[in-house]
Amino acid sequence: MIPAAVMSLSVAILGTVLLHSVSSQSEPSIAASENALITGDVDSLVLQCNLTSAFGDFDDSYWMKNGELISGTRGPNRNLEHRLNRPRGDDAGVYTCVFNFISAPSANASIDVKSAPVITGHKRSENKNEGEDAVLYCKSVGFPHPIWTWHKIESGGMKDMDNSSGRFFVSSKENYTELHIASLDINLDPGVYVCNATNLHGSHSERSVLRVRSHFAPLWPLLGVLIEIIILVIIIVVYEKRKKPEDLQDGESPVKTNSTNNHKDKNLRQRNTN
Ligand SMILES: *[C@@H]1O[C@H](CO)[C@@H](O)[C@H](O)[C@H]1NC(C)=O
Ligand SMILES: *[C@@H]1O[C@H](CO)[C@@H](O)[C@H](O)[C@H]1NC(C)=O
Ligand SMILES: *[C@@H]1O[C@H](CO)[C@@H](O)[C@H](O)[C@H]1NC(C)=O
Ligand SMILES: *[C@@H]1O[C@H](CO)[C@@H](O)[C@H](O)[C@H]1NC(C)=O
Ligand SMILES: *[C@@H]1O[C@H](CO)[C@@H](O)[C@H](O)[C@H]1NC(C)=O
Repeated sequence: MIPAAVMSLSVAILGTVLLHSVSSQSEPSIAASENALITGDVDSLVLQCNLTSAFGDFDDSYWMKNGELISGTRGPNRNLEHRLNRPRGDDAGVYTCVFNFISAPSANASIDVKSAPVITGHKRSENKNEGEDAVLYCKSVGFPHPIWTWHKIESGGMKDMDNSSGRFFVSSKENYTELHIASLDINLDPGVYVCNATNLHGSHSERSVLRVRSHFAPLWPLLGVLIEIIILVIIIVVYEKRKKPEDLQDGESPVKTNSTNNHKDKNLRQRNTN
């Protein structure tokens, strides 16, 4: 038993040694800086990659961040240096130096620059009608990408939001998260929602206020006008009802009123002639 285990172990060691020597024969080697962590008190961070041996004619080199070329870094340098001044959360990511050769495949090395997440964008408030859907979101910088969670602030404390209720849906991808609330309930859903981004190096959270209006809210100005019209009509009707009986007592018939008018006319004419 024991000799067999020792033998398989030595075979394994021999295997890795062989593999290593094979790979170092066919691949160039790069001496790269250690992974780094951005903290508040770092003045600058220098990333280095040195091409220490190449098997083929060296052509040029450049830096990439998160898989994209960093412009202005392409050149004929075997010793690469990339400086991050006053690095912040948005400088975090995977930096890769790439060395190209004229007649051989290119070689690269990656350096992880890590930092606590910082939420750089979120919806501060959302106003919706009951029955509609609401979407809240947060996005972050920092690396590694955070684990996202959503909570709602309630009188008893924080309530976790997840897919289990059937009306709330959380979908998160790397540096972005979305909370989707279907068919808003005016009694249950208004309030303050919190998104929380957490990775190994720290956490950050932000708040969003959700307001839900009643179905009737858009009708209220119209209802106001309607009520005004109804009140006006009532006032007019009441006024007319109280006024009419007195009119009838005063002038018993329209003819009578006409005659009084005639009298007035006569008086006027008389005054004019005087
Ligand atoms: C790269 O080379 C420079 C000098 O040529 C040296 O100072 C530096 O420490 C090297 N960097 C690494 C990561 O080996
Ligand atoms: C880095 O090298 C690996 C293989 O060693 C390759 O799969 C990858 O595409 C290279 N990346 C870049 C950016 O060249
Ligand atoms: C989020 O991550 C993607 C992919 O890694 C990247 O392209 C984008 O710039 C990142 N957004 C922010 C705000 O960092
Ligand atoms: C929750 O629902 C959303 C939307 O349907 C989906 O994208 C997401 O993967 C779900 N999350 C979990 C943990 O099942
Ligand atoms: C985010 O959630 C984590 C895990 O629940 C918690 O430890 C942390 O305090 C929260 N961060 C913030 C800023 O609220």
